[in-house]
Amino acid sequence: AAGRHTRKEDHVRLAAAQWTGGGPRSDFDDVAFVHHALGAVAVEEVDPSVEMLGRRVAWPFYINGMTGGTEHTGRINRDLAIAARETGIAMACGSMSIALDDAEAARAFTVIRDENPDGLVMANLGVGRTAEDAARVVEMLRADALQLHVNAVQETVMPEGSPEFGSWLRGIEEIVRASPVPVLVKEVGFGLSPRTLLRLQELGVEWADVSGRGGTDFLRIENDRRPGGDYAYLTGFGQSAPACLLDAAATAELSPGPVLLASGGVRSPLDVLRALALGARAVGVAGAFLTAVDSGGPDALVPLLRTWQDHLRDLSALLGARTPADLAHTDVLIRGGLREYCELRGIEAGRYSRRSED
Ligand code: FNR
Repeated sequence: AAGRHTRKEDHVRLAAAQWTGGGPRSDFDDVAFVHHALGAVAVEEVDPSVEMLGRRVAWPFYINGMTGGTEHTGRINRDLAIAARETGIAMACGSMSIALDDAEAARAFTVIRDENPDGLVMANLGVGRTAEDAARVVEMLRADALQLHVNAVQETVMPEGSPEFGSWLRGIEEIVRASPVPVLVKEVGFGLSPRTLLRLQELGVEWADVSGRGGTDFLRIENDRRPGGDYAYLTGFGQSAPACLLDAAATAELSPGPVLLASGGVRSPLDVLRALALGARAVGVAGAFLTAVDSGGPDALVPLLRTWQDHLRDLSALLGARTPADLAHTDVLIRGGLREYCELRGIEAGRYSRRSED
C-alpha cells in the first residue's frame, strides 16, 4: 500500500511538472476552423449543454479522472469537487482501486460527493478488478457513471506494472453487464483505435473517451519513475484525440458505435471546440486543470473554469454554432501531420472542409 501512495504522489508531481501552460504543438493545432465573417450567431442564442451519461450537463467539457487515495490527493479531490460544484462542471476521480483495500484512502474520494452532492460525478477503476469491486466504488461515490481505464502502454512502462492483458476483454464485459450505472471506457493518453472501439461495442460499452497522446504523457511519467529511465525512446507512441475521432468517424461499422468523448492534450476552449467539431460529445481535461488546483485550490480553478465557459460560449457564437452538435456543420481544415495520418489510414480529410454547404 505504501508503494501505491508514493505512486499517486509521483503521478501528480510529474504530471504537474510537465504542464507547460499552453502546451507544445499538437495535433489539435492541425485542426483549423474556416472563418465566415457573417456566420456568427448571437451569444445569447448559444446553449452549450449536452446529454452525457444519462444526464444533461450545462457544459460540454469536464474534469477528467486524476487522483485520490492520500491526504494530499484527497485535498486535490476536495478542491476539484468544490470548483465543479461552483461552476456546474462534471468531474471524475482517479483510480479507486486503493479505496477498495483501505478505508482511510476511501475518504480521499468520498469527499467529492460530500462537497458536490448533485453534480455529475464519475468513479474510476482499472480493468482487472471484479464486477463487485466496480459496484462498490460506484456506491462509495454515489457515482452517476464509472470510468474504466485501459492503460496497456502505462502498465508496460510502469516499474510496478502488471500487464495481465489476457483477461481484459472478459473483465470489461462482466463489469459492463453488472454495472448499475453507465460505463465509460477510457485510455489514459495513448488513444482508442477504431478496432478497439469495435471490440468495446461488442462488449456492450456505450461510452468511450479516446484519451489520446499530446497532453499529459504517462510514458514520460512512468519512465521517469523507472530506474535508468530506459523506455525514453518510446516517446510519441499512440494516437492523438483528433486522429482517433477522425478515424472513428471514417469507420462505417461505428455508426452508431459507442458515444465518443475526447481528451488528451486539451489546452484551451479552442481545443474543446475542435474536439466537438470532430465528433466528440464532450471533452475531458486533466493536466490543464491540475496545476491550478494543486497550487491555488478552488480560488485558482473556479476563475479558470469560468473563463473557459465564457470563451467557449463566445467562440461557439463566432463559429455560428448554437449547440455543440451544430459544430458538426463547421468547415474544418485538417493539416500537417494530422492530414498525413488521414492519408495513411484512408480517411477523406477534405470532406471536413466544406461541411457548411451540405
Ligand atoms: C491521470 N489520468 C488518469 N486516468 C484514469 O482513468 N485513472 C487515473 O487514475 C488517472 N490518473 C491520472 C493522474 C494524473 C496526475 C493525471 C494528470 C492524469 C489520465 C487522465 O484522465 C487523462 O486521460 C490524461 O491525463 C490525458 O488528458 P490531459 O491530462 O492531457 O488533459
